[in-house]
Amino acid sequence: MTANSTPLQVIDHSIPVFRPYSDESEVQAVAEVLRSGWWGQGPKTVEFEQRFAEFVGAKYAVSVNSATAALHLALAVAGVEGGEVISTAMTFVSTNHAILYNGATPVFADIEADTLNIDPDDIERKITPRTRAIVVVHYGGHPADMERINAIARQHNLIVVEDAAHACGSSYQGQLVGSIAPLTCFSFHPVKNLATGDGGMITLANADWDARLRRLRWVGINKDTWIRSRDKDAAQYAWQYDVDELGFKCHTNDINSAIGLVQLQRLPQMNARRREIAAMYDAGLRDLDWIQRPVRREGIVSAQHNYVIRLDKRDQLAEWLRTHRIATGVHYIPNHLHAMYKPYATPLPVTEREWTRLLTLPLYPALTDGEVNYIIDVIRRYHA
Ligand SMILES: Cc1ncc(COP(=O)(O)O)c(C=O)c1O
Repeated sequence: MTANSTPLQVIDHSIPVFRPYSDESEVQAVAEVLRSGWWGQGPKTVEFEQRFAEFVGAKYAVSVNSATAALHLALAVAGVEGGEVISTAMTFVSTNHAILYNGATPVFADIEADTLNIDPDDIERKITPRTRAIVVVHYGGHPADMERINAIARQHNLIVVEDAAHACGSSYQGQLVGSIAPLTCFSFHPVKNLATGDGGMITLANADWDARLRRLRWVGINKDTWIRSRDKDAAQYAWQYDVDELGFKCHTNDINSAIGLVQLQRLPQMNARRREIAAMYDAGLRDLDWIQRPVRREGIVSAQHNYVIRLDKRDQLAEWLRTHRIATGVHYIPNHLHAMYKPYATPLPVTEREWTRLLTLPLYPALTDGEVNYIIDVIRRYHA
């Protein structure tokens, strides 16, 4: 198994696949909220939404407590109920659960062999008179082919919903993800590029959808508590509100939003470090012909949420790395292979071939150069 005669540098700790990054600033931001006496959705959430909208160049940003909730509500305002939604199976199940939450049918399109993103050609083949929307996942942070997907959507009068859980800070042809499609959903789960503990955001330009999303995220109530507490004219009726429709309980709170504000400021540096680590992997693995490295197409900047290599004996390399205390992952088991998605399964040759070859290597901002070099060294000593 060992082809290199120089001794392996010893690392005396385990290396996880992902890890959130924070410092004293997050601790202070949370302490400030705790001391303020307003822990729920309030001023920090308003500020986080404003800053996030400015950052991605969107008109509106509506915060929720996860990307799962963001996708659920985005598809609700897109009006997909009773129709079909074209989606990818190469994703975390939340993407497709959100379609089912809305009483719609997921129709799986295959993926592009290079980016692992949904394939526009197969989207076109899957369109029927019942199709209402297309859900696009920017796998690993590499934006999908939005020019073609938006053109297909325009031609067939479909709404594009982006699952940008991996793509916070990614850009496509100079435009940040979040300002490209009618509805974009972000995740602030602990291991995402911008982490708040858990959280999500929907960015959009449609004022009616914005107002409805704000109701839907808080059980259908038409005026949130913070707004009512600030409404001077109606001060004596601060308790008053109406419930317009059956909403959900998936808003965020100021503890998470305060963390989000700090993380948003640091996002460019954290993403730059992710890209630096990816470049080290690229350089260190370039000459290994048994490993396929991630692609980056012209005109995109990836937030580099993960670093996924492809190889034939994936499980053996994962085991070899595990014995050297390096954790790896597989993103993802295609959703149509899960038991509950059997009714929606359809042949997806590229997805089914490629997923068996995927291996996610450790990537997070605090991963040191020494650790990256160690991982590269361990991989280089493995001979399949
Ligand atoms: C592609 C994708 N979509 C959606 C989600 C769901 O995000 P959240 O955990 O914020 O609900 C994830 C999280 O892992 C994801 O990776």
